[in-house]
This record gives sequence, structure tokens and C-alpha cells, in this order.
Amino acid sequence: MASNSKHDLYDAAKADRLGFWAAQANQLSWHKPFTKTLDWSNPPFAKWFEDGQINASYNCLDRHVLEGRGDKTAILFEGEPGDTKTYSYSQLLAETKKAANALLDLGVRSGDRVAIYMPMIPETVIAILAVARIGAVHSVVFGGFSADSLRSRINDAQAKLVITADGGFRKGKAHALKEAVDQALLDNSCPSIEHVLVVQRTKTDVAMSAKDVWWHDALAKASPEHEAEGFDSEHPLFILYTSGTTGKPKGILHTTGGYLTGASYSHKVVFDLQRDTDIYWCTADVGWITGHSYVVYGPLANGATQVIYEGTPDSPNFERWWEIIAKYKVSIFYTAPTAIRTFMKIGRAVVDGHDLTSLRVLGSVGEPINPEAWHWYHDVVGGSRCEIVDTWWQTETGSIMISPIPHAFKTKSGSAQRPIPGITVGIVDENGVPVKKTADGSEAGYLTIDEPWPSMLRGVWGDPDRYVETYWSRFKGKYFAGDGARFDGDGDIWLLGRIDDVIKVSGHRLSTAEIESALVEHHWVAEAAVVGAKDEITEQAVVAFVILRQDELGDAPNEEEIGKVLRSWVTEKIGAIARPRQIMVVSELPKTRSGKIMRRLLKDVAEGRPVGDTTTLADSSVMTAINDKLHDGAND
Ligand code: WTA
Repeated sequence: MASNSKHDLYDAAKADRLGFWAAQANQLSWHKPFTKTLDWSNPPFAKWFEDGQINASYNCLDRHVLEGRGDKTAILFEGEPGDTKTYSYSQLLAETKKAANALLDLGVRSGDRVAIYMPMIPETVIAILAVARIGAVHSVVFGGFSADSLRSRINDAQAKLVITADGGFRKGKAHALKEAVDQALLDNSCPSIEHVLVVQRTKTDVAMSAKDVWWHDALAKASPEHEAEGFDSEHPLFILYTSGTTGKPKGILHTTGGYLTGASYSHKVVFDLQRDTDIYWCTADVGWITGHSYVVYGPLANGATQVIYEGTPDSPNFERWWEIIAKYKVSIFYTAPTAIRTFMKIGRAVVDGHDLTSLRVLGSVGEPINPEAWHWYHDVVGGSRCEIVDTWWQTETGSIMISPIPHAFKTKSGSAQRPIPGITVGIVDENGVPVKKTADGSEAGYLTIDEPWPSMLRGVWGDPDRYVETYWSRFKGKYFAGDGARFDGDGDIWLLGRIDDVIKVSGHRLSTAEIESALVEHHWVAEAAVVGAKDEITEQAVVAFVILRQDELGDAPNEEEIGKVLRSWVTEKIGAIARPRQIMVVSELPKTRSGKIMRRLLKDVAEGRPVGDTTTLADSSVMTAINDKLHDGAND
């Protein structure tokens, strides 16, 4: 597309924002057309396309088949061991219909919640689309989360069924999943669960109880016919748990018509998708929002052909991703800065040996991309030829909010630049006053989204107050994102990272409070404070400070062993992604006179900086004591 038409998009959205969104929504196929675009009469509770009816699965599958694209490849699957499988849109539809009937046979009905705990295989996409097809609500739990995390998510959503696999292949090994499900359900600790549907992937031995049903058996018995009915636009589509500033993850709720509009529109425009020629690959796991919007709903609603890869970038070695790009002639590639930085460290030789000339658009997501990584991505991966889109968004926003659009403007290394057409954002100070833009740019402030958008979260599952408090109370009438940002002299936006206790480790979102509560659940730990310390590769790393209960230590192991035990404990409680890089045993934590832990000072220590201002501490000798211990180094 010529750059002019990109500018038309900005102009059209500016001239008539709601008309623009209605036009985007009308790119989808509606069972019943909508007449009302937005109801914002009761903010912050939005209703988009309220009187329309739609089926998300139909839009991702049936529609393409009916429009003559049934033979087009939907999924090019590459298993970690090297097995491959291709699904055309017709084949994906046929499997999804059977899966939908299998779910109905197991008693799942519209509105019921279904937990999905799976590896990155085509059945995961089929499971998601089957759940959506019958109007049930999926809650995908990342396969790297522990049994404990899975259990709390199942119980919070009162899920009726879990879809899992015997395991998945990761780093050359079969990684057990069914076992974790069994552990989560042990002793009837998830009473709402009626059945567990198990996909056979690794063929490892798994114990099958009376509740458990093999996916292949259920699909073999299921009818191949299933007609998708339309659901109200505001019918819940999925819940996705994400970390906030408190110890308990929140179930972010997305509904059907608005979410699908945001996911499909942004996917098309941000990646400049050419449906008939592009080969798209997003490396995100479906356990995260990026996998929902840019592996499942966006690309499939747009009829794209995409690669799905099961494993890690280093299996069997660091050539793997680049081999895949060359093999399938991937033209649009979407990944996280952490991955780019990992490859930068390894060196360009692993990339250079492969023909990556098919690439034309490169996306980045999940954390700020530093200029060095941006240039490396651009030069080494993109051969200085590709457009880079640095996309800022969140689980809550459902789809990309701030990003360059290919060829519309000159990109900058490290700036997500501007909101995409249809989205209105601002940066405000402490008091909610917009920061002043000058020729040199602005001061740093808080990023807000200033008008409702179709794929916005509709709430926090089971907790309407939390939705209002967390997102809509800090700055009146505006959505508070939790990120710091500033404008440069051209009015482009630079994201500065989270301003709250949410941390990003390898692009994965974690909460310091959640890790702290996991730590204090251990009988050795009296108190814990967790910070995200700057990390060269993973952006941030978990560093924990703990005060031990001397009376509980018994035959006191040494500090190194204590560190080891507590790090494994966090893995067991939350998952390996939350495992602290370092645990420091301290005798006190720095607190203000009102008893608040001063994480800022701990962050200084964790990042090896001189400790900042300690004058507000109740006892300033605490930091001296912690500093004196510092030289122990990481206990990895
Ligand atoms: C951060 C991931 C800078 C940000 C899609 C946000 C980013 C949080 C970017 C949401 C980016 C995401 N530049 N920061 N391009 N993309 N973030 O919910 O802090 O896992 O608030 O969604 O990731 O993380 P979440």
C-alpha cells in the first residue's frame, strides 16, 4: 500500500472515530448486524456493537471456507522434534466442529468456563476455537505455570473442564502437563471440574482417571456437523489471568465483537498483512495475550497463513528459528526484545547462515526495545530492508494500541511512536494534567488511553470494583495503563516501563506482590520484598530480600542452600518464570516510618548502584547492614 492510504486511515479515524470503528467491525461477518456502535452511557462499562450477534470461531474458519479459501493453508506446524503438520482452513474447521461437539457431549454449554493448559500445538488453537464456537469462555493458562497457579485460576473462574495434553516438547524433552493438572485437581481441590480432556502429544504414560477423556477418542465419537450460532457482541469470549499490583492475579475479561474487531483490524494494519502472499509467524505462546490476539484471533480472522512452532529458540540449537523462517519463507515475524537480546549476545553467525530475504515486517512486543536491540533486529535479522513495528499494548487492551504502521512514517529505534488509527492516548502528570509538549519533547508522565476502544477489557472476572479502581480511578475518565511515557520533540511516544509493582521478565508479566506472597508461604520466611532488577537480557530479573524465622530454621542450612530451596519453592508455587535470580537474606527491610517497604532502595542494591536517599527511613542503619552483605553476589 502506498503511504498515502496509511495517512487516510489516520484521517478517517480522526474525522469520525465511531464511524471508523463501525467500518472495521463490518469487515467481520455478523450473524446479526449491529446498529449501535458504542454505548458509553455508564462509564467505565462500555458496550460495543451491542445489538449485533457474532461468532468468533465462524469468523476465523467457516467464513474463509464459504468464501472459497478452504484450501488455503491456515497453520504450518513445526514440532520441536522436527515433525510437521499443515492445516488448511477447511481442515481446521472440520477439526474444530468435531471438538465443539465433543465439548457439548461432555456437557459444556454457552457461558461455561473451560481452562486450557496446553503446549504450542495446533490442537490448542482448535480447542480455543471450539470453546468460542459454542459460546463457552476459555481461560488459557500458560503451560509454564505450576499446578498451584493452575488450581487457583481454575477455581477463580469455576471452570467446568480442563483441556490439556500429556505433555509438550521443550528443550529436547517431553514436558509433563497432565501430571500438573492431576496435581492441581488432587483431593477434589477443584470441585467445579467435571472432566479433563487430554490431547496425546508426547505419548508419555499418563494416569487416566474416570474424569479423564482422551481428545482423540472424544473427537472420533463426535459428530462432524456443527453450525455456529451467533452470540451477542458483548458475550464473554475469554478470561486471561494476568499479574497486577496485588498478590492475586486478575482474570481479565474480553467479550466477542469488540475484541475480534480490535484483534483483526490491528493485525491487518500494523503488520500490513497481505492475505494471499504473506507467511506470518508470531513466536508468542497462546498462554499470553499476544498468543490470543496475534496467533489465534487476529491472523485467523484475517485468513492469514501462519507458522506455529512448539519449542524453544535453542532446540536443538540457536539456528532453529532462522531455519524455520528460511524454510517457510516467513515474511512477517513478531517476537519479544528479550529474544533479540539473547541472539545479540550469541552473535550474528547463527542468523547470518540463513536466507532471511523473505522477511519484510518485523514486530516487537512485551517490553521496551532498547536502541541497540532495535538496530540489531533491523540490520542483522531484517537485512536493513524491513519495517520494524514496536507495538505497545497490554492484556487489558486486547490489541495493539501504540505502534508505527509500516511505511506510514519514518520509524525510530526504540519508540512505539503513536497510537494506531482509532486509538486516543495521552501522557499526564501526577495530577492528571497533560504534560506540556515542547520542541524538546515533554517530561515523563503516566500513559493514559483517553477514549474507549472496542477490544478494551470489560472487567475483572468476579470483581467489578477492582476494574473501576485499578484502571479508571486514578485519572478521571481516562484509562490508566500503569506505564510511564514521554513525548519527544516530534510528538512521538517513548515508553518508559511500568510505574507500579508489575515487572517484566523476558516479556512475561509478573507481580512483585505475588512472588512475595509465595515466599512468605514458606515456613522459613517471616517477611519478603521482591524487586525487578535491570537485566541485560531479560529486561528485568526477580531479586528477593527475605527475613528468616530463626525459630523455624531448625538445623539451619547455610544461606546458599536457603536460597536454593526458596527459589525452587517459588517455581513450585508460581512457575519457573517467577524463579528469583537471587535471594538475599537480610535481618531487616528498609521501611518508612509508616511501615511501607522502600523498594526503590532495594532496587538500588539489586542493581548494584549506590543506595539513594534514605532520609525517610525509620532506621537508616538498615541499608548499611544490607549493603555490607551485598558482596555475596548472585546465588545462581
Ligand atoms: C509492557 C503484553 C514497552 C508494558 C502485550 C505493558 C511494552 C505491559 C511494550 C503489558 C512495548 C508491552 N514497549 N513496553 N512495545 N509492549 N509492554 O499484559 O509495560 O503481558 O504495560 O501484554 O508490557 O504486558 P502484558
